[in-house]
Amino acid sequence: MSTFQAPKGTYDLIPPDSAKFLAVREAISAPLRDSGYGYIETPGFENVELFARGVGESTDIVTKEMYTLTTKGGDQLALRPEGTASVLRAALEANLHKAGNLPVKLWYSGSYYRYERPQKGRYRHFSQVGAEAIGTEDPVLDAELIILADQAYRSLGLQQFRILLNSLGDRECRPVYREALQTFLRDLDLDEETRRRIEINPLRVLDDKRADVQKQLTDAPRLRDYLCDACKAYHEEVRALLTAAGVVYEDDEKLVRGLDYYTRTTFEFVHDGLGSQSAVGGGGRYDGLSEMIGGPALPSVGWALGVDRTVLALEAEGVELDLPVTTSVYAVPLGDEARRALFTVVTELRRAGVAADFAFGGRGLKGAMKSANRSGARYTLVAGERDLAEGVVQLKDMESGEQAAVGLADVVAELKTRLG
Ligand code: HAM
Repeated sequence: MSTFQAPKGTYDLIPPDSAKFLAVREAISAPLRDSGYGYIETPGFENVELFARGVGESTDIVTKEMYTLTTKGGDQLALRPEGTASVLRAALEANLHKAGNLPVKLWYSGSYYRYERPQKGRYRHFSQVGAEAIGTEDPVLDAELIILADQAYRSLGLQQFRILLNSLGDRECRPVYREALQTFLRDLDLDEETRRRIEINPLRVLDDKRADVQKQLTDAPRLRDYLCDACKAYHEEVRALLTAAGVVYEDDEKLVRGLDYYTRTTFEFVHDGLGSQSAVGGGGRYDGLSEMIGGPALPSVGWALGVDRTVLALEAEGVELDLPVTTSVYAVPLGDEARRALFTVVTELRRAGVAADFAFGGRGLKGAMKSANRSGARYTLVAGERDLAEGVVQLKDMESGEQAAVGLADVVAELKTRLG
């Protein structure tokens, strides 16, 4: 072991488990790529103000969890805690919204950083795949995104997840509700910090997990009763579209989310096998975010799914992914001459698109065959001096155990045929 370890709250992705992460990213992004979402990549850090204004000054993410730094040039930066503000910033900067092709549909995949208290499923460095549809107010778009996330999870074989759905209202109706809620909350028996929260972000109090707080919230005013007609109609349309698509969801009026930019549709994907960190993904509409970061009015909607938690959910359900074969052929040379000859074969196989690996380092047959087994290769090629003198290599089918001598010049073609 080296003197160093991965920083607290982080972990390394190493084979063979790392293959699961690649497969999850692929499965989440595939439905997006097939639905008109283009790939976007933004820097790992941004001006700290972008997140302060975008995610919200009162959120835990901005007040407690951002990794901030001052550069030698004096710029105040933050490692990105989430992707939405960055993606919208990039779309505005590139004027994507002016190309007359709204919505601008984008997907991304990357690392995010939050200085949170680490526990299973909650890390300081984690990975998301996300999607944002920018510049259009249309309930079909909200439904499309939820349906695509559902499709991605199902394609992975996940079953024990639930979709929680809510509407947070808009800039007309939410302030009225907020005030009614504040008036109600101020009369409750709550600790100092929660009292402060009432003034800054009262909706978050509804999300409080403590039983003694929840008990007092039974008669709290409900946002649903305050939604304006336009928000109500919009939400009903999203619900109807999901139902028509056969996507099962639960109405959850306590679903608030931890970022301030949401308006109207909000949703979360939760998995029941994950304990307290049960949200595998979440998102919603953010009609005011563009203006909050200095852009024009661009109503938008999106989500991000956590890759780490999705992998944990697969493990909780015991789903074995059908991972792509990494090595089809493993070559074991015995002696220097065989090393050169088989390495030539391996190179040719690779150029022909066959995944092939090699026993490096002049190891003995026994150790090399162990590596061949571990590689999962369907075929091994073994050659010693006597084989080469006869112009052949020994081709072994690792499934049936059958072995045959094949001409050195024919072995690439033979393997291509056998592997289809
Ligand atoms: P979020 O709910 O903060 O939303 O994060 C989305 C997902 O990222 C979570 O459901 C979870 O799976 C994963 N995640 C978040 N924090 C951690 C952590 N500390 N450790 C492991 N996984 C984590 C957003 O980030 C929004 N930008 C989503 C969005 C996109 N809304 C609109 N567009």
